[in-house]
Amino acid sequence: MSHPDGIAPHGGRLINRITTSEQRQEFLSKADFLPRIQLSERSVSDLEMIAIGGFSPLTGFMEEADYSRVVLEMHLQNDLPWSIPITLPVSQEEADTLKEGSLVRLDNPQGRFIGVLELTQKYHYDKLREAVNVYRTNDEKHPGVAVVYKQGPVYLAGPVWLLERDPHALFPLYQIDPIDSRILFKQKEWKTIVGFQTRNPIHRAHEYIQKCALETVDGLFLHPLVGVTKGDDIPADVRMRCYEIMLEHYFPKDRVILAINPAAMRYAGPREAIFHALVRKNYGCTHFIVGRDHAGVGDYYGTYDAQHIFDEFAADELGIVPMKFEHAFYCKRTQSMATVKTSPSSREERVHLSGTKVREMLRNGELPPPEFSRPEVARELIRAMQVSCTLGPDGRNGDGI
Ligand code: ADX
Repeated sequence: MSHPDGIAPHGGRLINRITTSEQRQEFLSKADFLPRIQLSERSVSDLEMIAIGGFSPLTGFMEEADYSRVVLEMHLQNDLPWSIPITLPVSQEEADTLKEGSLVRLDNPQGRFIGVLELTQKYHYDKLREAVNVYRTNDEKHPGVAVVYKQGPVYLAGPVWLLERDPHALFPLYQIDPIDSRILFKQKEWKTIVGFQTRNPIHRAHEYIQKCALETVDGLFLHPLVGVTKGDDIPADVRMRCYEIMLEHYFPKDRVILAINPAAMRYAGPREAIFHALVRKNYGCTHFIVGRDHAGVGDYYGTYDAQHIFDEFAADELGIVPMKFEHAFYCKRTQSMATVKTSPSSREERVHLSGTKVREMLRNGELPPPEFSRPEVARELIRAMQVSCTLGPDGRNGDGI
């Protein structure tokens, strides 16, 4: 697992698909003559993640052999574990205009030329098979499945290039790509680093498991996902402000790095937990936190399914160690955060709040109890709720806000 810059990336080499200035000039000179595809926000973030090495060893969108093996067996053709298909869906009409073997210009949703695909393959795929295997449900109400059902019927595959690495529009200071996080970890002389994925505002249970994990490693890599999430998740800028507040008041500055994860959320529960871990391995993390219902939504997954799935891989296959946590809560008896492993309390002595309940309180301008949320964070959420009242319940079974 050793690597000059810490833990080896998945597949042994950190992928970089950002053009050199010569390549960029060449692509720009061809720009007006290439067939073009307009990417969705999700495909833009996939392109970006491939280019910066977050999805190493992928160098592009998956060809059919990799795609099918990932869907059915959670492995790439080269036998490396991989659990989520990374694909570029287009309509039949778009696919018909493109020839295998040609270069395709990739535009963002605003029509700006941002990347190039060398189209090696276009293929039809079975949406139901993808839904049932990756998301473990065929229910169109599942937000990840809904995306698959709505997207075009053809996948385009092949290596990609990102024309330029632009600073993030909202969080330029927190745009720390895998190459940079690896350098930072080295500078700080951290040998063991635990990564934390989240798409929710930070609450006490998050803080508890982050700090429990940090007790046993050198550093904590807080890595909130800021790519596309479903409409009723709290917007990324609000969540990032909550993290800034937490870092200011409640965390030691020299042990924590806050960075954005530009990827889109899939809500694939167990499969996504593996994927999230591999992505953090590429950023240089040696450990990864998996708590209750990781990357879950509604009642589609069992509370600990996202932990059990790690047992389906051989010990050294993933190359990153999952740190598994039970459902955490505030225990009134011991007056501390705890789980059933550490608290003798009865159910009545545990502070559990449903996401729906917390949202209702925030919308009414009420502070949730400090046992649930740090007051500075709750105040920020109330402020954000009052600015935008678009936040609805996600029907989740638990305490995601
Ligand atoms: S996720 O979709 O990104 O997983 P969320 O931001 O809610 O959602 O969770 C981030 C991480 O914290 C996940 O690993 C999740 O399992 C864990 N987690 C969230 N709430 C709790 C809790 N009360 N107890 C234990 N782990 C939790």
